[in-house]
Amino acid sequence: MSKSIFITGASSGLGKQMALEFASRGYNVALTARREDVLLAVKKQIQEQYEVEVFVAALDVLDYEQTQQVLIAAAAHLGGIDKVIANAGIGLGGRIGEEGAFDCARDVINTNVVGAIATIDAATAFFRQQGQGHIVTLSSVSAFRGLPGTAAYSASKAAISVYSEALRVETYNENINITVLSPGYIDTPINNSLESRPFLIDLASGGKILADLIEKKVKRSTVPSWPWGLVARILAILPTALVAKVMG
Ligand SMILES: NC(=O)c1ccc[n+]([C@@H]2O[C@H](COP(=O)([O-])OP(=O)(O)OC[C@H]3O[C@@H](n4cnc5c(N)ncnc54)[C@H](OP(=O)(O)O)[C@@H]3O)[C@@H](O)[C@H]2O)c1
Repeated sequence: MSKSIFITGASSGLGKQMALEFASRGYNVALTARREDVLLAVKKQIQEQYEVEVFVAALDVLDYEQTQQVLIAAAAHLGGIDKVIANAGIGLGGRIGEEGAFDCARDVINTNVVGAIATIDAATAFFRQQGQGHIVTLSSVSAFRGLPGTAAYSASKAAISVYSEALRVETYNENINITVLSPGYIDTPINNSLESRPFLIDLASGGKILADLIEKKVKRSTVPSWPWGLVARILAILPTALVAKVMG
C-alpha cells in the first residue's frame, strides 16, 4: 500500500526538502503552507522528478478549523495519511524588554506553539479514527537552553517538545507513534541571516537525516544526532555566568 505524508510549512526550507525527500522514497505528499502559489511550484518540481500523488492546500496553522478540514481533504485525496509533520514555524528574535520584542514573541508563540498544537491535535483526532498514524514535531536544540536574543523561540520549542512528550503518554496504548526532532542549524531562510551558525549542515543532507529518523520512528533526536546530542546536554548545564560571558 502506498504511504502518505502531510507536511505543514512545505513551501520553504525543511518542509519543502522533506517533501522532496519523501517523494523520492515513494511517498504521496500533502503540501500545506500559507503561500499556495509557492506550493504549486513545489508540486510541479516533485512531479517532474517522481511518480507520486501530490495534494496542495493553502493552510495557516493558526486556523484550527482549517487545519482539521485540510487534513481530512488531504486524506480523502490520497487515500489516508500515515504521517503528519508539524513543521511550520517562524524564528523571529529580539531581546526581552526591547522595543518590538513582545510583538515578535507573541507571533513566535502563536505560530510555533499554538499553530503546532492545532496541527498535532487535528492529527491525533484523525489518527484515532483511522486506527493508526505517526506524528512528527519539529522542535530545536534551542529548546534545551533559553538563549539571549531568542528567548521566545527557545521557549516555543521547549513547549512543543514537552507537549509532544505528554501526547506520547496519552497515546501510549494506541497505534500512534510520536517523534520529536530537534535540529541544530540546517541551511534555510529561517537562519541564513544569522552571524553564527555552528555545525551548519546543508539542506539536502538535513532533509535526508530528518527523513531517515522519521522512517525509523525514533522517539526523539537532535538533528544531526552528532554533535548536537552532546552539545545540547552540555548547553543545558552550563553556568549562567559562562553563557552570559560568551553569548550575553
Ligand atoms: N533550519 C533549521 O536549522 C532549524 C533548526 C531548528 C528547528 N527548525 C524548525 O524547523 C521548522 C521549519 O523551519 P525552516 O528552517 O524550514 O524555516 P523556513 O524555511 O522559514 O520555513 C518555514 C515554513 O513555515 C511556514 N509557515 C510559517 N508560518 C506559518 C503559518 N502560520 N501557517 C502555515 N505555515 C506557516 C512557511 O510557509 P508560508 O510562509 O508559505 O506559510 C514556511 O514554509 C520550523 O518549525 C523551525 O523552527 C529549523
